[in-house]
Order: sequence, then structure tokens, then C-alpha cells
Amino acid sequence: MVKKKIAVFISGRGSNLKSLINHSKKKNSLFKIDLVISNNFNVKGLKIANKSKIKNYYVKYSNKRIFENRVLKLLNKNKIDLICLAGFMKILSKKFIKKFSSPIINIHPSLLPKYKGLNTHMKAIKNKDKYSGATVHIVNDKLDSGKIIIQEKVRILKSDNEKTLKKKVLKIEHKIYSKAIIKLLTNY
Ligand code: GAR
Repeated sequence: MVKKKIAVFISGRGSNLKSLINHSKKKNSLFKIDLVISNNFNVKGLKIANKSKIKNYYVKYSNKRIFENRVLKLLNKNKIDLICLAGFMKILSKKFIKKFSSPIINIHPSLLPKYKGLNTHMKAIKNKDKYSGATVHIVNDKLDSGKIIIQEKVRILKSDNEKTLKKKVLKIEHKIYSKAIIKLLTNY
């Protein structure tokens, strides 16, 4: 079986990257993490990639067009089948999405369509929501808006604060991201 080649885009810590790497190392995994791209220099996620001997690049984000052109070259050179955004805090242009003809997916720490953008945990707590959660979705040209692949929720307790909720949601993120990739690759 030929494994699908994934590029993971990050901006920082890389805990979702780490969980995808762990999954990719399992016997019979359908995918391999072939490439890691970060718009930030010297972040923990790049160190995780180095440790796992995965090709990784810091691509300076001087502006969107230059960044995206450099990244597209790397993607084409490495024949990437799927891009996974994992804590990548930049918005990709319509042009980029069109030029990269394979799917691009993203993980977001809320029950989309609720709370697109930043500070999702704070918003859920402020609104006294009963549940929060995480969503993996297809990336389109609108922020956090493409078709949902998988979503899983978690109860918000009265005792929860932003920090505890964030931790609970992150745990779900690590659980659902690889599931979503498999779902996408196998069309079930
Ligand atoms: C994750 O919670 C991810 O859902 C979020 O950033 C964090 C990155 O953590 N992404 C977004 O908010 C994107 N809109 P990680 O670097 O440890 O994977």
C-alpha cells in the first residue's frame, strides 16, 4: 500500500502534529507525515519534526504571496497528497487553495459553526454553553467555514475555566484529527 503523503502546517507548539506523527507510525497507517512547514522560526513543532526525522521548513511570512509561492514549490517538489493545518495561524488565499489541487483540512477548537477565529474557549464559557469541542473541516476561502469532516463535543462544567476547557478540548483534538484524515482518505 502506498501511503498518502501529508504536509502539516504549524505556527507553534505542535501537539496536534505530534499526535499525527504518532498515528502515522502505527502499523497499517494510511498516511505518512512527509513535510512540516512553519511560518514561525524556532518553534517547538519544528523540534518535534526534527526529532522524528521529518523534513521541516521555516518559511518566512514576509507577505502572503511570497510565503505561499515558496510553500507551493515545496509541496509540488515533495508530491504532497494532503495538507493538514494544525495550529497554523495564517489564512491561506483563495489562489493558494485553488493551485493546490488536493484537499486542505484544518482542526479548530470549537463546535463549528460556533466560534470561528480566536478565543473560542473564552467565548464558550462567557456564553454559558453546555458543550464545547473540536472540529476538523475542509479549508475553503472563508475562515473556519468549509465542510465538516468530524466533530466531537465535551461537556463544559461549572468549575471549568479557559485553561481547563482548553486542555479538555485539546485532548479531543488529538483523538479526532487522525480519525478525520482516515475518513477523508477512505471516503466513509
Ligand atoms: C489547537 O488548539 C488548534 O485547534 C488551534 O491552535 C492549537 C494549536 O495547538 N488552532 C486554531 O485555533 C486555528 N484556528 P498545537 O500547536 O499544540 O497543535
